[in-house]
Amino acid sequence: MADIQTSAADKKEKEFFTHVPQEAPGFFLKGCHQYDWGLKNRLSRIFNPNDGRTVMLAFDHGYFQGPTTGLERVDQTILPLAPYADCLMLTRGIQRSVIPASTTKAIALRASGGTSMISPMEEWEGEIDGKKAKFGRPGFEPLSNESTALNIEEAIRLNASVLAVQVFIGSAYERQSLKNLTDLVDAASRYGIAVMGVTAVGRAMARTPQYFRLATRIMAELGANVVKCYYTDTEFDTVTSCCPVPIVIAGGKKLPELDALQMCANAIAQGASGVDMGRNIFQSDAPIAMMQAVQGVVHGGLTAEQGFAKYNDLKASGVK
Ligand code: 5RP
Repeated sequence: MADIQTSAADKKEKEFFTHVPQEAPGFFLKGCHQYDWGLKNRLSRIFNPNDGRTVMLAFDHGYFQGPTTGLERVDQTILPLAPYADCLMLTRGIQRSVIPASTTKAIALRASGGTSMISPMEEWEGEIDGKKAKFGRPGFEPLSNESTALNIEEAIRLNASVLAVQVFIGSAYERQSLKNLTDLVDAASRYGIAVMGVTAVGRAMARTPQYFRLATRIMAELGANVVKCYYTDTEFDTVTSCCPVPIVIAGGKKLPELDALQMCANAIAQGASGVDMGRNIFQSDAPIAMMQAVQGVVHGGLTAEQGFAKYNDLKASGVK
């Protein structure tokens, strides 16, 4: 029955209308034109009203993996990047302890958590060819067992524009993570705060266009105002076109700078409303130069090659 398992041969072809932009009369952001004033204003702090795009700097990785490479000292490595970001994606712990309250950047606050990189696997003992072996439970992703990690009063105190919640479609805790999303949407919408559903990936969650179409659409249908997912080399325009709210892409593992800039350019050309990137910026050899190159591609209309030239020029002139 699941649509994801059918092939084109089984049924009517899907029509994604990838060349027909979804209308948003009177507002610059897809799917957001019927929101109330406060929510529109918060979204306008994240997405630039001139082009409808955003460069979000993601450095919330510590919420499940501790001192990630490049984030050992957020005060040293991230604060110098903040002026070039439209929005800072972080945890409340880092916001209170490191980010100056004088910042004027929009805040994307991590609002789910409760597991870690070393959460125990659920395993069974069995035998393969007469030898004892351990098996992981199919579809079981230890990281997926999250709950909401802050309440709405705390989000208001921290002046969040958007709350980020991880959603694990296809995992053992899919239902719980979708409940986290809908609980946060119910709470945040009372105060005009946006919620961003973050598509998780794992062994049971393949990085395919089919998977991202399914996951992003489910999150939007359940009330997410913004959705974050990964870029796919094929059919990404179908992922953005069938999601009725803005999509921003995660960067994923560190790539060579030109490849990362190409990914940004491709995603924007195929309907993404921006990036929410971390490692490809703060793990770069020259993070401030890379941050400005990404800005140039997302907001400045630079091609990936032009962005890379900008990165190299800045780096050569001593910009770290
Ligand atoms: C954690 C997140 C991260 O913010 C996200 O993965 C972005 O970081 P990167 O560009 O390093 O992938 O949502 O799940």
